[in-house]
Amino acid sequence: MIKVAVVIGSTRPGRNGEGVARWVHDLATRRDDAVFEIVDLRDYDLPHLDEPMPPAMGQYEHPHTMAWAEKIASFDAYVFVTPEYNRSISGALKNAIDFLHAEWANKAAGFVGYGSVGGTRAVEHLRLVLGELQVAVVSSQVALTLAADFEHFSVARPAAHQAGRLTAMLDQLIPWAGAMKALRSDAVPSS
Ligand SMILES: Cc1cc2nc3c(=O)[nH]c(=O)nc-3n(C[C@H](O)[C@H](O)[C@H](O)COP(=O)(O)O)c2cc1C
Repeated sequence: MIKVAVVIGSTRPGRNGEGVARWVHDLATRRDDAVFEIVDLRDYDLPHLDEPMPPAMGQYEHPHTMAWAEKIASFDAYVFVTPEYNRSISGALKNAIDFLHAEWANKAAGFVGYGSVGGTRAVEHLRLVLGELQVAVVSSQVALTLAADFEHFSVARPAAHQAGRLTAMLDQLIPWAGAMKALRSDAVPSS
């Protein structure tokens, strides 16, 4: 079975991301073609990148890196639930991605962006970052706006049509996750 992480890309107290991730998880778990797990950056408490060796070397020294690496390596695909901060992703999410290398490679990813204008510019940045890490990014994405998809700009209540957008994204993601899983089993090098 394909395993998909729903990654919460914000660690901010009072964050909207947690409600968005729960909405994604609730709808996604109705599917029978994959299993979904919320991965919360807060649970890994990563400092700013503090590994002496570049992550591409795969020589991790710190227990926090190893715990994060083990979790990320266990998935075939990722749904990044990302806020938009100053037209990009959060520093916490970028740092968490930068910590690892091979664990991301030859996997698939889809995006649920949110923010004042739907998080679309953050998702564009994230697509570039993940491209460098050999992640196959699907084109359909969800864009939630604070005005239309949240109550009082702070409680995630996505408009009805957004469920269809999420389904469209997952319908692309799961087959690609399966294709990349087959690729990995053929032992294609990641760099
Ligand atoms: C530091 C910061 C910068 C922001 N910059 C943008 C922005 O450039 N574009 C946008 O649409 N929303 C922006 N916002 C609004 C956030 O996307 C929105 O508040 C979102 O809920 C933040 O995610 P979080 O609550 O999960 O942390 C910004 C919010 C913060 C805190």
